[in-house]
Amino acid sequence: MDYNPIAGKYDSYEKDATTLWLLGYPFVIKYLEPVTNKKILDYGCGSGIFSRYLRDNGAMVTGADVSETMIEVARLNDPENISYHTISSGEAGFLPDSSFDHVVSNFVLCTIPSLHEIRKIIKEIHRVLKKNGVFIIMNSNWGRYNGKEFISYKLEYCKNLLPGQRVNAILKTDPPIIFEDYFWSREDYTQSLLDCGFTIQTIEEPMAESDQAPWVDEVTHPPFIIFIAIKNF
Ligand SMILES: C[S@@+](CC[C@H](N)C(=O)[O-])C[C@H]1O[C@@H](n2cnc3c(N)ncnc32)[C@H](O)[C@@H]1O
Repeated sequence: MDYNPIAGKYDSYEKDATTLWLLGYPFVIKYLEPVTNKKILDYGCGSGIFSRYLRDNGAMVTGADVSETMIEVARLNDPENISYHTISSGEAGFLPDSSFDHVVSNFVLCTIPSLHEIRKIIKEIHRVLKKNGVFIIMNSNWGRYNGKEFISYKLEYCKNLLPGQRVNAILKTDPPIIFEDYFWSREDYTQSLLDCGFTIQTIEEPMAESDQAPWVDEVTHPPFIIFIAIKNF
């Protein structure tokens, strides 16, 4: 999917995406803490919303993305102390080996149509990560919420959900933004991580437990799946 045409709209959507701010990003940062002075790569940073969140929590952040327009929007959006780069998929040769304490990749691998490409990206992330560094992947949890609706978006029901299947996420903007994702199973991600030299510390699927927001299906279906992986060698 080409993110260039929707870059500006995506940034304003994310700022108010309740589901994401209560059940997504805080759980990612939890596994990286303390982030102060840590070097963190935000792979597929988009318009930089999570990069800014990390920076505001004291991290030294690099954002990389294939979309020039997303990077342009990120640079217009309070870029202080964040280094943004446009890259080709899975190619960040300008970043030295073992140079990051942590890497995060939020809602990026679920947009990739081939497992081969996903592995290429994971290998590149493994290269730039320090030994014992944490790599976090957060994705839409297609396997658990096919056809469900959340405060900020909903998922078109897909009858035969098979690995590699094209699926649509509909962001509740006016007019709605339709995201083309690909379903990859929990096993696809874990096996790819293991094959590329990671161990899996844990997999988290946060669900709403309180009445802090007007939840829809968040109370019965976890909207996001978060893989926490460690580089062992
Ligand atoms: C749904 S957006 C998520 C943006 C950001 N991570 C966030 O949480 O807001 C997906 C982003 O991944 C980027 N992307 C897609 N394929 C990529 C790839 N192979 N390598 C790097 N970035 C990629 C897109 O350009 C887009 O900015």
